[in-house]
Amino acid sequence: MNNQAHTQERRIKEIQHYYGNTLADKKDLTTNVCTVDEQPSNATKAILANVHDDVQMRFYGCGAPFPPLLEGATVLDLGCGSGRDCFVLSSLVGEQGKVIGVDATAEQVAFAQNYVEYHRKVFGHVKSNIQFLQGEIEAIDKLDLAPESVDVIVSNCVINLSMAKADVLAGMAKLLKPGGEIYFADIYSDRRLSPELKDDPLIIGECIGDALYFEDFVRLARTAGFLDPRVTAKTPKTIANPAIEAKLGGAKLYSITLRLFKMDLEDHCEDYGQVAIYKGNLPEAPDRFVLDHGHAFDTGRAVPVCRNTADMISKSRYHALFDVVGDNRRHYGLFQCDALQTDHTLSTDTGVCGSTGCGC
Ligand SMILES: C[S@@+](CC[C@H](N)C(=O)[O-])C[C@H]1O[C@@H](n2cnc3c(N)ncnc32)[C@H](O)[C@@H]1O
Repeated sequence: MNNQAHTQERRIKEIQHYYGNTLADKKDLTTNVCTVDEQPSNATKAILANVHDDVQMRFYGCGAPFPPLLEGATVLDLGCGSGRDCFVLSSLVGEQGKVIGVDATAEQVAFAQNYVEYHRKVFGHVKSNIQFLQGEIEAIDKLDLAPESVDVIVSNCVINLSMAKADVLAGMAKLLKPGGEIYFADIYSDRRLSPELKDDPLIIGECIGDALYFEDFVRLARTAGFLDPRVTAKTPKTIANPAIEAKLGGAKLYSITLRLFKMDLEDHCEDYGQVAIYKGNLPEAPDRFVLDHGHAFDTGRAVPVCRNTADMISKSRYHALFDVVGDNRRHYGLFQCDALQTDHTLSTDTGVCGSTGCGC
């Protein structure tokens, strides 16, 4: 085994110890990084109210990775932990859909498995649509999942823990169907953190030590073929532990939810004179569909869009929500963002606008 593989194996063992032994439930967390500030939709809140209290107590996520339009979809949750998000997704995909949760920690998988039957009954399914698997997200090809078999991949506060984030992204790219979506929440930093933080299993376990500088994550995503990552939510983390905060050298942490589409997108937003009209036919969003921080579509309004955005909404499962007018035959130069409707509920002070989505 080479040095890198050895270090990675040690990291996995430390994480398994942290999530399998050190933490019994969320009361044992020593910072507030693995907690959620982002509000899910009202429909998701109603489902969450039905998730068993024991499962809620072992939830360590930092966001709400529940994209719309999941009915009938196959969804994979990387680092599913005690299964809270999988149980919510089980209801969102319905009985015809499928949810697969993967986690490296045996105790977490066993815990989640114990609540499958409870949630099957609560959601009124004849047969459970959830499968929990023990496995490492850097090696999802070792699990028995067919290439291009997954519609949506979600993850909640996990990828920061991986020493091989490029492998995680490459594995996701293989498993996703063309037009599929990765929709995930994770912790990022506004600068590169000191490498010494990676040697502290507590700081790693609390989702801080290997959190990437956001711009570096965008670079990794682009290298894996996800050329235009879009931010859907961003909240600052306060840490709530002065001793750990002091080790960050002034760096700020954020929980950011991103969506990445598996399709041929460009590295810049180009103008082909296209407009998109949201039909208002998503029940939980009758007046406005928010694709990301730079793209909110009022029902019935024709909004100029770059080719990447046009492709995201017409070549993914969102295609039934939009009329897209125009094609790719005539180019008008780099897309100008002034005509876009920004979702002002999302802050844009991380510099993420410079690196993602329409250069806006
Ligand atoms: C912060 S917790 C989040 C768990 C879950 N997503 C939730 O929201 O409750 C991180 C989880 O990721 C799992 N994990 C960390 N690194 C992993 C890896 N390389 N492969 C698979 N699972 C991993 C841990 O075992 C733990 O359950």
